[in-house]
Amino acid sequence: MGQYASKNDEQELAQQQEYMKKAAFYVDGLRQQLGRQPLCCVTTFGCQMNARDSEKLLGILTQIGYAATEVEAEADFVIYNTCTVRDNANQRVYGRLGFLNSMKRNKPHLKVALCGCMMQEQTVIDKIRKSYRFVDLIFGTHNIFKFAQLLVTMFENQEMIVDIWQETDQIVEELPVSRKYSYKSGINIMFGCNNFCSYCIVPYVRGRERSRDPKEILQEIERLVADGVVEVMLLGQNVNSYGKNLDTPITFAQLLQEVEQIEGLKRIRFMTSHPKDLSDELIDVMKHSKKICRHLHLPVQAGSDRILQAMNRRYTKAQYLALVDKIRTAMPDIALTTDIIVGFPGETLSDVEETIDVVRKVQYDNAFTFIYSKRTGTPAAAMENQVPEAVVREGFDKLLKVVQDTAKERAALLQGRVMEALVEEVNEQDASLMTGRLSNNMLVHFPASKSLIGQLVPVFLDRCHGFYYTGYIVE
Ligand code: SAH
Ligand code: SF4
Ligand code: F3S
Repeated sequence: MGQYASKNDEQELAQQQEYMKKAAFYVDGLRQQLGRQPLCCVTTFGCQMNARDSEKLLGILTQIGYAATEVEAEADFVIYNTCTVRDNANQRVYGRLGFLNSMKRNKPHLKVALCGCMMQEQTVIDKIRKSYRFVDLIFGTHNIFKFAQLLVTMFENQEMIVDIWQETDQIVEELPVSRKYSYKSGINIMFGCNNFCSYCIVPYVRGRERSRDPKEILQEIERLVADGVVEVMLLGQNVNSYGKNLDTPITFAQLLQEVEQIEGLKRIRFMTSHPKDLSDELIDVMKHSKKICRHLHLPVQAGSDRILQAMNRRYTKAQYLALVDKIRTAMPDIALTTDIIVGFPGETLSDVEETIDVVRKVQYDNAFTFIYSKRTGTPAAAMENQVPEAVVREGFDKLLKVVQDTAKERAALLQGRVMEALVEEVNEQDASLMTGRLSNNMLVHFPASKSLIGQLVPVFLDRCHGFYYTGYIVE
């Protein structure tokens, strides 16, 4: 198998299916012991990739006989799918592990598993082995397809099972998936990242970039559509470089055109776009598409050229702004969102002013602002000029205010218009309302029946409330 294996590994798939049968035997034993169906609880930290991985974990768990619960305290199997992109994600996991320890004392048959990005770090494994010895199973991001096999090993052994791979060239799809939503789904189109932004741990924990075979992606979407999905989110750390390493290279824009042809599919989204790789071809395809949503998440991270260079982002502020201009000229109604980091080593308040200037110029519909978090093993962690907390805070607060003000202004622009919304769920606060998502990713709440979930309806955007709308369906 070559370095950039992209085809589904059928042999491995068959093996894992055998392990699922074996695991089902153990779960059935537990069912008899408990006198009821065993319950599992999957908790996801982190990004959309992890959310998709969790659907795969849950798919296998339900296949082998567990029923899903969201109440951790009643579960017989608990698994945390972890994230390590910023330290607060790690701290949340440790906090909850402390709680699980006491839960396990009262419920000795409880099994606890940990997986995901955090587990790819040796320091984390060392810490768990030392301080959280009750954990039953630990695996990483590269061998998640072996989950059924790992469960069997766990059921057959008493001690902690740890299986972490440094890399993989295998792609194993078509295992069971338990989707969170009936009408929309994420699809992995690629794994890993080759960009090595100097602050970011993702390339170290997710490995090198690997694209999936386009035919297999299209077949997966076709199967999803046949199963009621109307919206897909194509997932990758840098979707704009999709397909470059395939035996028969294809561009992301070409893949999108293929996806567009799938009958019955109504909406296409994707995440994330790296500005350095966003092509004119993609802008053109988006502009002419009937299905690609009018939303682009285009992380800028910083506005100062000096900081952008130290971050290894490979674009300048001027290049980023020129790209935004090109996108807005082609699609004036497009919503732009971004990610921003404040407090990268060496960043001064005047650098933050450059970032604020970008926010003012671009007028983002939404921006996710993060305080820089030092990640061991990344180049930025070794930089000497780490920024004092008070300086970071000052820049962050200032930026956040501008972000919120511009987002509000942008949102207000659509008030009084009729737009198509995908009806997603019953409103959390008021059960007489349904929540729908507009093409630009904003939410609108309106009176409607639950039976409309998964359908596209025209909604009059009556009032803007900052980050969402209220309205009503028009005929
Ligand atoms: N691949 C995506 C982002 C993945 S991580 C991209 O390149 O856009 C999501 C976001 O987390 C990043 O965009 C960045 O803003 C933020 N992030 C990553 N590493 C971080 C760190 N060390 N400290 C703070 N924020 C970080
Ligand atoms: Fe991290 Fe940069 Fe890769 Fe995004 S593109 S995952 S920020 S290294
Ligand atoms: Fe976190 Fe891993 Fe995603 S580190 S942001 S869950 S790729």
